[in-house]
Formats: sequence, structure tokens, C-alpha cells
Amino acid sequence: MKKEYVYRAFERFWHWTQAALIIFLGVTGFEIHGSIRFFGFDQAVRYHNFAAISFLVLIVFAIFWHFTTGEWRQYVPTWENLRAQAEYYVFGIFRNVPHPTRKTSLSKLNPLQKLVYAGLKVLVIPIMVVSGLLYMFYRYPQRYEVLSLNVGGLEIIAVLHTIGAFLLASFFIAHLYLVTTGRTVTSNLKAMVTGYEELEAGPVEKKAQPVLHEPVLSE
Ligand code: HEM
Repeated sequence: MKKEYVYRAFERFWHWTQAALIIFLGVTGFEIHGSIRFFGFDQAVRYHNFAAISFLVLIVFAIFWHFTTGEWRQYVPTWENLRAQAEYYVFGIFRNVPHPTRKTSLSKLNPLQKLVYAGLKVLVIPIMVVSGLLYMFYRYPQRYEVLSLNVGGLEIIAVLHTIGAFLLASFFIAHLYLVTTGRTVTSNLKAMVTGYEELEAGPVEKKAQPVLHEPVLSE
């Protein structure tokens, strides 16, 4: 094993700030939606708007960072080992078989992570930002006294924004579980706090064995 610097300072700052903002946007958003009661509706709207603007600022910096460092390449989805990785999470992990893919500082995401994170970056987050901004700047008829304007137009925006919120909430729950499935229960978490992680040393093999064909070590 070798200690490697996997997550740089900005990346860790971005990860934790994004996590905090998404949790906060989720709590205030679901209060606006009427699912929970915490701050009160008016405060929830005010907090949600403020957190949304902060999230937009963070996104601008994160896009800049991803392109200037070339780290965006880590997220390009691949078919290679995608099936093996999915089979690992469904079967292999419960039989103690080794991870089908190896983490290195140059390839820190497994094929399933690449696919899911790319989906979040190019689909779910943009949907939340666009629908959120449309929601924010929607010309409410009452506000501008354009009473003939059809308020029904807001419905599709609200539905899209709410579907995105449910997707993010589901991702969050799955993410919490998957964080514990690294080399040890806390190794992934520690890496995102300190930047360093103990990784297997030596050259990376090109192709992993399909998980279901690996020997069962624990039996
Ligand atoms: C830049 C990103 C975002 C913007 C600009 C934004 C903006 C807004 C706005 C303006 C509203 C309506 C508030 C009102 O009724 O006056 C809203 C509602 C809501 N937001 Fe966001 N939001 C963003 C991100 C998020 C995220 C990340 C989540 C969830 C994790 C979320 C969850 C919700 C929910 C559940 C509602 C209630 C939807 C409804 O019942 O119609 N939002 N958002």
C-alpha cells in the first residue's frame, strides 16, 4: 500500500460546501414543498434563495477548476468494467471479493461513479439550476399585476424542480452507504477530509476479472 494525495484542497472544499448546500437546499426546498416544517414557509423561501445563489457561485468556481486542472476527464463515462462494478455492489461485496477496479490518483472514480456523477453534473444539477432560476424569476401575475398571465406555466417548472430534488435525495442516501464501501469503512471519508488515501501500489492491470468469477474468499 502507498499513501497518495487523491483529493486536492479546492476539490475537498467544493465537495463539502456542495454537500452542505444541497442538504440545506433540500431541507428548505421540502419545507417550501410542504413535506416538512422547520423554519416556517417565509424563512424557508428566503434561505432557499440565498443558498441557491451561493450554490450558483460555487458551481461557477467548480466548472473553472474542473477545466483548468483537466479533472473533468475523470468523469467521462466508460463501459469498461461497468457491469463488473455493478455486480460487485449487488453480489461481490457481500462475499468479500476484491473491488473489480483499482483506485489511483489518476483514476479515482469507478465506472459506476463516473456514470452517476456525470449524470448529476450534466443533467440533474443543470435541471435544478435552470428550473430554480425560472422559478425564482417567474413573473407572478399578482406581483406585476399582469393578472391575465397563465400561472399554470409554473407547474412544469415546479414538477421538474421537485423531481430533481427527489433524485438528489436518493443519490445522497446511496452515496452515504457507498462511502462506507472503500478499502475500510472510513477510508473514503478520511480521504475526502485529509486528501490522502492508502492505495494499492504497483502498476494497474488493464482489465479486471468479472466479479462473479472471482474466488469467494470468505468461505
Ligand atoms: C441553483 C439552484 C437552485 C435554485 C435557483 C432554486 C430555486 C428555487 C425556488 C425559487 C423555489 C421556489 C420558492 C418559492 O416558492 O418562492 C424552489 C423550490 C424548491 N426547491 Fe429549489 N433551487 C435550487 C436548488 C435546489 C436543490 C439542490 C434542491 C434539493 C436538493 C431544491 C429543492 C427544492 C424544492 C423541493 C422546492 C419546492 C418545489 C415545489 O414544491 O414546487 N432546490 N427552488
